[in-house]
Amino acid sequence: MKEMYRINGLRGKRIVINDFLLEDAFEMSKWGVHQSFLFGDYNFDNYDREDFRYWYKQKTVRQNRYYSVYEGKRLIGYFGIKNISKVFKKSTLGIVLDPNLLGFGYGTEILSVFLPYYFNKFRMRKIDLEVADYNYRAISLYEKMGFERVGYCLKRFYLDTCQISKDEIYPYLKSFEFSENEVYQYLIKMELKRKR
Ligand SMILES: CC(C)(COP(=O)(O)OP(=O)(O)OC[C@H]1O[C@@H](n2cnc3c(N)ncnc32)[C@H](O)[C@@H]1OP(=O)(O)O)[C@@H](O)C(=O)NCCC(=O)NCCS
Repeated sequence: MKEMYRINGLRGKRIVINDFLLEDAFEMSKWGVHQSFLFGDYNFDNYDREDFRYWYKQKTVRQNRYYSVYEGKRLIGYFGIKNISKVFKKSTLGIVLDPNLLGFGYGTEILSVFLPYYFNKFRMRKIDLEVADYNYRAISLYEKMGFERVGYCLKRFYLDTCQISKDEIYPYLKSFEFSENEVYQYLIKMELKRKR
């Protein structure tokens, strides 16, 4: 598996994609910070080198492949295919950019370069993902790339409810369920199949 699904110097207009190395993870300490708790999972500002080592080890297990995205010398993001099934030729996509660089078309550029590679070079049949119902930007990107909604699920939202700002959550109430002590978020399941 390690030798398969490698990427070495795949280029877009501005970007270059390679296998993700531990050194790339350390570059994420230069990234900006999401102000909204809704995107707290994508903040790495409190990580030290040990945390990045642990994070890298956890991500790059046998059934996953992760890739770095650089513009020049700057790591602008990473993405991965997880739970790769060689038998069913499918996997699950995850993509994360430097919070300072959202909305500049990098997500579009990455997926426009990667998805044809995934289907044609890796010969995969399907890619799926889960995205938070409140993550309108990501949903819009995935729909633009041709992903279709195939279902949804509820997932525990791990956050101290005291940390949740009412102003921030009100516009997104439909994306959550609240029980006495717990918060759950709706995730939309999406998938894209290789065109025949
Ligand atoms: C999701 C992510 C990868 C998208 O990359 P990006 O470079 O910011 O996205 P792009 O600029 O290429 O495209 C975003 C699209 O969403 C649209 N968009 C932005 N905000 C939107 C909103 N609030 N509602 C609807 N559409 C929105 C943009 O107009 C753009 O579409 P267009 O090109 O047709 O105009 C990036 O924002 C990111 O890393 N977010 C934080 C981590 C994350 O959420 N990862 C995904 C987890 S499933």
